[in-house]
Amino acid sequence: EKGGYASFMLKEIAEQPKAVADTLLGRIDGAGRLTLDEVRIPGAVLREADKVVIVACGTAFHAGLIAKYAIEHWTRIPCEVELASEFRYRDPILDQRTLVIAISQSGETMDTLMALRHAREQGAKVLAVCNTNGSTIPRESDAVLYTHAGPEVAVASTKAFLTQLVACYLLALYLGQVRGTQWGDEIHAVVRDLARIGDDVERVLETMEPVRALARSLADKDTVLFLGRHVGYPVALEGALKLKELAYMHAEGFAAGELKHGPIALVEEDLPVVVVVPSPRGRSVLHDKIVSNIQEIRARGARTIVIAEEGDDAVVPYADHLVRIPATPTLLQPLVATVPLQVFACELATARGNEVDQPRNLAKSVTVE
Ligand code: M6R
Repeated sequence: EKGGYASFMLKEIAEQPKAVADTLLGRIDGAGRLTLDEVRIPGAVLREADKVVIVACGTAFHAGLIAKYAIEHWTRIPCEVELASEFRYRDPILDQRTLVIAISQSGETMDTLMALRHAREQGAKVLAVCNTNGSTIPRESDAVLYTHAGPEVAVASTKAFLTQLVACYLLALYLGQVRGTQWGDEIHAVVRDLARIGDDVERVLETMEPVRALARSLADKDTVLFLGRHVGYPVALEGALKLKELAYMHAEGFAAGELKHGPIALVEEDLPVVVVVPSPRGRSVLHDKIVSNIQEIRARGARTIVIAEEGDDAVVPYADHLVRIPATPTLLQPLVATVPLQVFACELATARGNEVDQPRNLAKSVTVE
């Protein structure tokens, strides 16, 4: 069943290019328009929505954090992202004009289910982004956009995460299309970028040997920190979550801009710090800021593991280890930047003798609150 791989997780990491392509399949017509027929929420409701609220747990929550950037950028609708387990206990403000997006691989996560029930009771429309046909969350939602990752067996979510991102990008563009904030050409450009991203993920996978060697060399460490900015921040959170659940190590993700507000006190000689670097093209301010962050932590002895675009030379002098990813538009970068972090966590856990498909204390779907 593992198709020659040592674990389901490795198999599922390798399946990501196909999972991404499958999730795009049939959702763009010959004229380059998005045809999300499954989004059965009437156009009028989508046009009138004045707020988007995303609820999810764990890795799906990280996909939601990234989706927020895309939704707000492409639609200009304010978007909040909340952990499903916190959502209903704070008496959230919801009404008929709120579009709630519930993201869940399994479709059975109890916290997410309770959050969407609460939202519907308040009159909000709920759209599920889900990987499991006919599961409870899509059945109880107004509409569903399925991710086509195929069954995900390993407890640590990998290919489901990438397809959740793809589904959220499509949804954001579709909302823009319906509301008229995004026009043909812009949608085409992003769709073109999305269409080739499976190949980029494949290229990343082909170059992972040094990441594996690095992971093995860090097997006796206690702590690894992850830093990012903009969409790289949720990628950092996801990298840290993978390491916690698989390697049972202390791992934390921070927004790089927060360093000076506390976390930099953690930096000591030889502490591994993974930094996700935004593209130097486009939003170059972000890029320059993170290069100074790398300099700051390195000056304090950190061992810097830098994930940066091909051709980004500015980071070279400050990177103890450099992991190259293909040049990708900023909003889509998480699709390629997350992959080395998955491989890193999987290899490090294996080196520590852990069972990667079934980490201790965890279940694939959490059906209790
Ligand atoms: O099935 P779901 O997407 O609703 O699951 C949510 C989380 O339990 C899940 O992503 C969890 O955090 C993973 N083990 C992370 O790898």
